[in-house]
This record gives sequence, C-alpha cells and structure tokens, in this order.
Amino acid sequence: MIRTHTCGALRGADAGQHALLQGWVHRRRDHGGLIFIDLRDRYGLTQLVFNPATSPDAHALAEQLRSEFVITVQGQVNRRPEGTENPHLPTGEIEIAVDRLEILNTAKTPPFYINEDAPVDETVRLTYRYLDLRRARQRDTLLLRHRAIKFMRDYLDERDFVEVETPILTKSTPEGSRDYLVPSRVHPGGFYGLPQSPQQFKQLLMVAGMDRYFQIARCFRDEDQRADRQPEFTQLDVEMSFVDEADVTGLVEGLYITLIEQLSTKRILQKPFPRLTYAEAMERYGSDRPDLRFGLELVDVSQLLGQSGFGVFRGAVEKGGIVKGIKAPGGASWSRREVDALIELSRTFGAKGLATAAWTAEGVRSPFRQHIGDELMEQLRVAFDAKEGDLVALVADTPKVANATLSRLRDHLAVQLGMADDNALSMCWVVDFPLLEWDDESNAWTFTHNPFCAPKDADLPLLDREGGDPGRALSKQYDLVCNGFEIGGGSVRIHRPDVQARIYELMGYTPEQTRDAIGTMLDALGYGAPSHGGIATGIDRLIAILGSEKSIREVIAFPKNQAAQDLMMGAPSPVPDKSLRELHVKTDLPVS
Ligand code: AMO
Ligand code: AMP
Repeated sequence: MIRTHTCGALRGADAGQHALLQGWVHRRRDHGGLIFIDLRDRYGLTQLVFNPATSPDAHALAEQLRSEFVITVQGQVNRRPEGTENPHLPTGEIEIAVDRLEILNTAKTPPFYINEDAPVDETVRLTYRYLDLRRARQRDTLLLRHRAIKFMRDYLDERDFVEVETPILTKSTPEGSRDYLVPSRVHPGGFYGLPQSPQQFKQLLMVAGMDRYFQIARCFRDEDQRADRQPEFTQLDVEMSFVDEADVTGLVEGLYITLIEQLSTKRILQKPFPRLTYAEAMERYGSDRPDLRFGLELVDVSQLLGQSGFGVFRGAVEKGGIVKGIKAPGGASWSRREVDALIELSRTFGAKGLATAAWTAEGVRSPFRQHIGDELMEQLRVAFDAKEGDLVALVADTPKVANATLSRLRDHLAVQLGMADDNALSMCWVVDFPLLEWDDESNAWTFTHNPFCAPKDADLPLLDREGGDPGRALSKQYDLVCNGFEIGGGSVRIHRPDVQARIYELMGYTPEQTRDAIGTMLDALGYGAPSHGGIATGIDRLIAILGSEKSIREVIAFPKNQAAQDLMMGAPSPVPDKSLRELHVKTDLPVS
C-alpha cells in the first residue's frame, strides 16, 4: 500500500504522525500565501495546507492544482489552529502540512461541479456518470445498496438459503412484459430471450430438491420506462419448498424489518405489516398499491347519487359505473384557480371531470348543488364526514377510471397537504388478488401476475370446465407495498401439472401451444414436484425509497435514461454489417 491513510481516517489523536494520502482535489482556497486543498476520496475529505515558508517546492507545484486533479501528498498531521476546526467533518480537527506533492494526473474542467449538490441536467449526469458518481450523494446511495444486498445475503444464508445463478441467455418466461431477444449465430433464425425474471428456473430448482433458493437476480423487460422502471433491474428472488403464503411473507417481512432498522433512519409505521385484500385496497384507496402513510380514504356514493337529478352521476351509474370521491381537509378555502387545476389534473389521469363541493361558513358551494338538492347535499356531507372548510371531489365513471383517477388524486393531495412524511415507511401486504382477468383482445382469460400462481384451494372448483366461474377465483398471490410503490410480489405456485395445463387452457392455448410455451415446466411438475412458493422484491425500488430518491435511476450505478438508452456508452448503437450477417439478421433501419 502506498497510502498510509484514506481521506476519511485522520483524527485529532493522530496529530504528530506523518501521513501519505492520495485522492482528488475537491476544493481549493488561497489565503494569504497559504494554499488550502480539500483532498477527496471515497472515504471523505482531508484538509491540506501548503505553506510557502516551510515547503516552497510543494507550494509552488500546488499553484498548478485545479479541481479533480489526482495527487499524492506527504506531510505531518497537525491539529488545526483553535477556532478553525470543522465540526461537520470527521477529519475536521486536523490538517496536513504538505511537504511533498506529486501530481498523478491533471483533469479537464468537469461538465458540472462535483463539490456541490446543485441540481444538474440528468442527460449530462448520465453521459458523465463516472463523474456523477464521485458526488457524495451518489456515492452514499451505492454504499447503501451494497450494504442492503450484503444484509440480504447474510440473512438468507443464515436461514439455509442457497444462492444459485440462473441463465441470462435462455428462453423467455411469461411475466407479462416484452422480451429482449438475442439472435443466435450458430442456430440461424433462433433467438435467446433474456429473462424477465428467473421464475421458471427457481421453480425447477424446487423440483430439483434445492428447498430454499435465493438470488440477487438481474431481470430484463422491454417496457415503457418510468421513474420506477428500468429495462434491466435487480430483484431479490426467493423460492421455498413445502410452504404456504405466511411462510414466504413472514420471511420477507422479518428480513425487511431488520434490514430497514439496521440500515436506515426511516421509521416503519406498522409492524407486523398490515394485510389488505385486493378488494379492500381498491374500495378504500382505488389502488392495489396504496400509500398508507395517510388516510384520505375514498368513499363510494353511487347508491346515494346514482338516481339523483345530476345527469353526470345518474348516467355513470346507469351504465354500470360508480360515483366515488375523496375529501380534501381544508380544501374549501382553495381558490377557483386551484380547484380548476385539480380538475385539469384529474383529466390527465383519465377522468372526464371532477365534481366538487366545498363546505364553507356561508354554506355549501358546488356546481351540482342545484341538481341534487339540499337534502342529498347534506347526506353527501355525512358520507364523507365533511366539516366546514372541507372540499369533496367526486368522479363519476367506470370503476376502473374512477379508481385510477382518485388514487392518483389521493397521492397528489397528500403531497399538497403535507401528509406524506418522507421519513415514514408504510409497508403492507396486498392479498386475495383475482387469479385471472378477462382479456378482450385475446378473447380469453389472462393471468393477473404470472401463470404459475396457484388458486386458493377452495376456489379450485371454479376452474372446472363444467360449472366453473374462473373470474371469481382468488389466487395465492401477495404483493408487498411501501409508500405507494409495489416493492415485491410473489405467490404459492401451482405444483400439479393438470392444474397448470388448465390455466393455459383457460388462457386460450391449445395443448400444443401450451407444450410449446411451458413444456419443460409441465414435464418437471410431472416428476414429483414439492409444493412451493416464493417472491421477488425490487431492490432498486427499495433503495430508492430508503435513499429518498424519486427515481430508481439514482440507485443504479449505470442506468438507462427514460428512452432506454445508455447515454454514457452510447447504447443501443448500430453494428457492422458483418456482425449482422453472422447473426443472420437483416435490418434496413438506421438506428434512431
Ligand atoms: P414481478 O413482476 O411482480 O414478479 O416483479 C417483482 C418486483 O420487481 C420489481 N420490478 C421492477 N423494478 C424496476 N424496474 C422494473 N421494470 C420492474 N419490474 C418489476 C417490483 C416488483 O414488485 N417472478 C415474479 C416474482 C414471483 O412470483 O416470485 C416477478 O418477477 O418491485
Ligand atoms: P358539465 O356538465 O360537463 O359542464 O360538467 C358539470 C360539472 O361536472 C363540472 O364541474 C365537471 O367538471 C363535472 N364533471 C363532468 N364529468 C364528470 C365526471 N365524469 N365525474 C365527475 N364530475 C364530472
């Protein structure tokens, strides 16, 4: 080792020692002949002093130092003069009186300040991600991510889980997204699919008798990018044999509670995590991933207003829709413009409009008051438990649109009203999902999570060919939700080949198509498969929440932008014609 210390190591007690440090010039200040440099590495900052009186050579060379130069320095560790200590720095008691300086490398002027936390355009940050990662916040995020993953590995290792790597080049597995494909050179016309998740492999490991599996698994999904979605992302992937739902959720709950309590200062609001059924979550919050840091529960007033004199309400309910709404405490004082902004926002969420009622000292103010009359107006107030000063906003539409709009409006209002505490974590399980949903496009049933998810035992007869009612079957699926984000999902699986084949039949597959899609799984289940279940949690989303980051791009070392491009490496990019020929791929499109 050349270094005697890192830039975060030295303390007052080290005064008098000789030290050799290496790192980057973080900041430079010149003071009455003295040159002060903050030297930076991953571990921290150390103040260097170049004194022309005592070390003229080092001082002369230090004149050349600019931000981000990489240097080696030697000198004596001194206590800083009284009154100049920096209590905000762990090394703030000392400085190094440099007597030897070597410049290892100069640096071009960086495209943004590394030593400031000021916002920088994301395109520039992603293009120069290696500079972006020098910044303290980004470094801390990567360290947090490392610690969280190490914690997961240790926790699971102590509980007999075995980490097994599964293929990246494989056949696609149905998770409901689009696959990334890789053409085969040696099998013209053949393609590998990159895994959307290791779902089938982990189940096959259970058939293989591995009993308890986990993997820090990279997954690939070609879908539209959002703040919480990346084309490649990382799951903590888990599978266990001879278990029921409570075994899997209990394991993950224990892991997450200890991980968060050890690695984060955020507070988990409720332990054990509350459980909501899917139906309850939709009814009360309009979403299957409700943010439970705040109440703001939705109220369905279809019964009350469905036959009222207001055509918007009556019409929606007559067509099988609902009238549902949310109360904004204190919202009655919002100006016309503020309320109009909410209405506009609701339109962007998919609603046709937003009908509001405000209870003020002068009485109730509402565009639909004269249509429904004072008596219904009062019943509406009671239904929402609205007080003077409150505003109620209603959406009349299909359940799907009304819930989608109101759940997003709910999140928006919580922020506007300051009810979403960034230091609080509201974790919950959502259970009892429908197993299947009808898909108009394929005119068949389709899975709600993945096709390997088991139905509730009592609901198995609902899948019968005669007298069945597949749409009513509930599944053994469970989702883990935190602050409005789905941070995990899994299920107890189907372990009988006949049930597995029946699911594909319901999805409109012929026996041949089923064999083609999941033949290996069906075969494997036929050779003595244990009952089993598992889960995958999104590591990127967890770290983003713990690190108070808005986007998972912040917690991935080298993320793609929202157009799924790697701006730093310049991918995707065209390749030479020769490569395409070798891969038997023809394209006549220039890369956009
Ligand atoms: P699922 O598809 O629900 O389940 O994914 C599990 C978790 O992975 C995270 N996640 C993502 N994170 C970032 N970017 C994405 N594009 C993305 N997509 C999903 C979410 C999600 O909860 N094989 C099943 C799991 C199982 O049944 O065991 C699966 O992959 O946090
Ligand atoms: P309109 O009849 O379109 O002028 O709408 C009268 C009021 O009802 C306005 O305040 C609209 O924003 C509201 N509104 C219109 N459509 C809906 C709807 N589907 N749900 C709730 N409110 C609506």
